[in-house]
Parts: sequence; structure tokens; C-alpha cells
Amino acid sequence: MNQVEKIRIQIQTLKKLPTLSHSAERILRLTNSELTHLDELINIIENDPPILSKVLSLANIICLGYSGPITNLKDALFKIGFNNLKNVALSISIFSLFKVSGQREKTYKRLFKHSVATGIISKYIAEEFLDIRDESSFTAGILHDLGLFALHHLYYEAFLKIENLVITGKNITEAENEVIDLDHSIIGKWLAEWWGLPEEIGEVILYHHEDPGKLDNKYRRNIALIHLANYVAEKIGYGIYDGGRESVFYESGVYSLLTLPEVGELVNHIKSEIPLEEINIL
Ligand SMILES: [Fe+2]
Ligand SMILES: [Fe+2]
Repeated sequence: MNQVEKIRIQIQTLKKLPTLSHSAERILRLTNSELTHLDELINIIENDPPILSKVLSLANIICLGYSGPITNLKDALFKIGFNNLKNVALSISIFSLFKVSGQREKTYKRLFKHSVATGIISKYIAEEFLDIRDESSFTAGILHDLGLFALHHLYYEAFLKIENLVITGKNITEAENEVIDLDHSIIGKWLAEWWGLPEEIGEVILYHHEDPGKLDNKYRRNIALIHLANYVAEKIGYGIYDGGRESVFYESGVYSLLTLPEVGELVNHIKSEIPLEEINIL
């Protein structure tokens, strides 16, 4: 059995990979039909108080402060819509599976903030510049580093070794391969498959560090968007590593697929428009 196979089995069984919480399972089973599932979604969130408060905080950031604070689920539904509310609740329930305390909390917080920032930036770019109003941009953005959460949760020592290599200038994928013989994109894709997340989310997770211009994949525009949002999040201070970059940015690949303002302009615009400093650790 090779190292990759060993880790896959460890992640799947030996290391007690968190199974989805009851709330997350139920949310995932809801279809995108507001008509049939509205009451059920409200019921799941209301009966899970830790999720409820986090969902409301995140809904407020998504709304970008355009229209008064969201203080209850009815407001949230009205302002961000059923599908966004559903995806926010799902992401929050997934992240809470990986929550840690003590020494590891600092790195967990960085991962959390980076993920939320990437989700919000993806959604913002999609709606503001690409006229895409499809909630998968937000979900794929917020969950793109799912594999890093698992790595952090199950192999903290390896996570730190990788972090040190990245801080000294190594590319994350190379650093991960050096330490564990595989990378967080693959781990994230495994998780997405085991949990039955939508295919598009799994594909974005798997390819988010590759040059989107060279991909032959039906989701490559969304992959390009998340690749870009990941970079922008880092540029405005929401990176995972203190002093090291998570990714190589394939600018021409992104711009061959998406028509957008020049990247420096985009970074400045997002920095001034999105109140990311309001992301608390939920
Ligand atoms: Fe990543
Ligand atoms: Fe990332």
C-alpha cells in the first residue's frame, strides 16, 4: 500500500474523520426548492442555536451593509434568499466539525477567515462583474480549502511543517507533497465525495490551485473565479499563512476565461467595498 492510499484510509476510517453533523446532513438533503423546503430549513437552523447565530453574522457580511442589520432568520431569507441561506448554514455546520481549541485555535481562525473571505469575494465578483447569480460561487469559495481543514484537524504536525516550508518560499502543493505525499486539494475532493457535496464543488476544490486556462473541465470558469478570489483574499490580508503565500496565481489563465477589471484594480475595489473585518470567528 503506498503512502497516498495509507493516508486516504487513515482519513476515512482510522483517524475518525468527522461525519457530517445531523444538521449538515439534513441541509445537504434539501433541494434548491424554496417552495418545498423553506420551513424545513428554518426549522433546522432554529433548532441549532450555535449555527443560528453564526448564520446571522455571515448573512450580514454577505449583505455588505446595504440595508440595515439582519437580526433574525426572516430578515436573512428576505435579504440573501433561500439558496444562499442554505449554503451559509451548510458551510458553517461543516466548519464547526473541524473546530479546535488551545494551541491550534490560532491557525484554525486564519483558515476560517480565509475561507469566509474567499466565499464572499467570489460571490461579489460573480454578481458585480460577471453578472452570475448562481450560489455555487459562494459555496465553492467558502469550501475550497476543505482539505486544509482536515489536514489541520487530523495531521497538525504535518500542517505546521508545511506552513514552515511555505513561509520560507515554497509553493504549497510542493510543500504538501514533500511532507505527506499528497495535497489538500485531493483531500478536499475525497471529503466532498464522501459527504455527497455537489459535483461542481468537488471539482473546484480539486483544481483550485491549477492554471484554469489549461484545464479541460466544464466548471473551469468557476474554478478560475475561486482561484482568483483565493488570491485576492490573500492580497488583502486574509491568507492562511503568516508571511507566506498559499498559491501561485495564474493571472493570464484566469483572464482568458473571465472578463474582469485588471487584478490590482479589483483588489482595491474589493478592499474598499466589502467589510471583511466584520468576519468574526464563528
Ligand atoms: Fe488551497
Ligand atoms: Fe485558499
